[in-house]
Amino acid sequence: MIENSIVYRKIGVKYEYLALSKAEGSFVWDKSGKRYIDFTSVWNVTNLGWNNPEVTEALVEQTKKNTQGLLWGSDPIQEEYARALTDTLPKELDACIKETGGTESVEVSIKVARAYTGRKKIIGFRNSYHGQLFASLALGNPAGSLKKIEPLVPEIISLEFPHESVGKDGFEQFVNDFETVLSRRDVAAVVTEPGIITGWGSTLVAFPEFLSEVRRLTEKYGTLLIVDEVGTGFSRTGKLFGVEHEKVVPDMIVLAKAISNGAAAIGTVVGKSALFEQALNDAVLVSTFGWTPLACAAALKTLQIHKRDKVWEMAKVKGNYIMEVLKKNIGGKVIAVRGKGMEIGLEFTDAKTCEEVRRKAFANGLHIVTGSQNNMQLMPPLTIPQETLEQGLDILVRGIQE
Ligand SMILES: Cc1ncc(COP(=O)(O)O)c(C=O)c1O
Repeated sequence: MIENSIVYRKIGVKYEYLALSKAEGSFVWDKSGKRYIDFTSVWNVTNLGWNNPEVTEALVEQTKKNTQGLLWGSDPIQEEYARALTDTLPKELDACIKETGGTESVEVSIKVARAYTGRKKIIGFRNSYHGQLFASLALGNPAGSLKKIEPLVPEIISLEFPHESVGKDGFEQFVNDFETVLSRRDVAAVVTEPGIITGWGSTLVAFPEFLSEVRRLTEKYGTLLIVDEVGTGFSRTGKLFGVEHEKVVPDMIVLAKAISNGAAAIGTVVGKSALFEQALNDAVLVSTFGWTPLACAAALKTLQIHKRDKVWEMAKVKGNYIMEVLKKNIGGKVIAVRGKGMEIGLEFTDAKTCEEVRRKAFANGLHIVTGSQNNMQLMPPLTIPQETLEQGLDILVRGIQE
């Protein structure tokens, strides 16, 4: 309950403190036993539902074999997972780096890019979130809001993200400006999500062909393309990986979050082995807890379920349904609905209204988060039953219409 809860601040937005007592499938329960429908998936982690029994079982089985990996060697489950993951991604991406989460993996990809190209500059897009450390934060540096922890990592530049509403002319302008920056041939890498911002809460969708244009130009000027699929990966946007929407093959893909469905900490950079081999010593690619056998067992089972059940199709169908329902509510409090698959943003007229609707929904049993100020970000588990999804949407829509 709001009155009894601890409220803390995260990126300028208030959240109720939810003391979890149980979580299963598309539901979470608080300490008082109150049940909530979950529309967050812990921000794109529990894509297969909380505590997926098959993933838990794989993890438990692995505890009977071996739990810790070597820095200078490998465990069979690590090798099996590396094979399964690289077999699933485009064949050019034939090697993985063992990491523990999204931030670490993004930071590592930047080090690899600098070590490999010998260039210093890195480009990111403003108001994108790529992690909580100095380089990853610098990539999306939201104007002025990180002043107290500066200096961030130098030579990291944030450009405006060309979202849908820039229109054809605006996008052409972006492409021209982008080419001008790259043509100086001093940019090591561009880091971006694949056509939708899932981090920092804006749910902005890129102008069509954004990623293809970025790929074309990065290739032309010897700049590496790093795609952050920490949020979009594992079926969230209606494809197993977001790069599939435009059939783009980047130089590196960063994965974390839904990779193990929340059963264990793990992240990775999957890329071309030539990059990693050349950068190996200079980039210092070591992480003691990177890819523990436990995490690999959970990640392997997670990947197998996504492929076996074609979970991306669930995201596509239910995502379309959510958009349809929400679009009927545009006007009044809601000014826009945006998204891809089951990564959906609901933009309100102002931050106060957005917060009021979220609080009402929470009181009525829907666990949902506000992203940046006036944007509510919907990320239900992709396996949510249709009936539960409809109940959750009813709660939300009632809050909007009241
Ligand atoms: C798109 C994106 N990249 C990177 C990260 C950082 O991942 P982690 O929290 O595992 O460090 C996040 C986390 O929210 C994210 O949403």
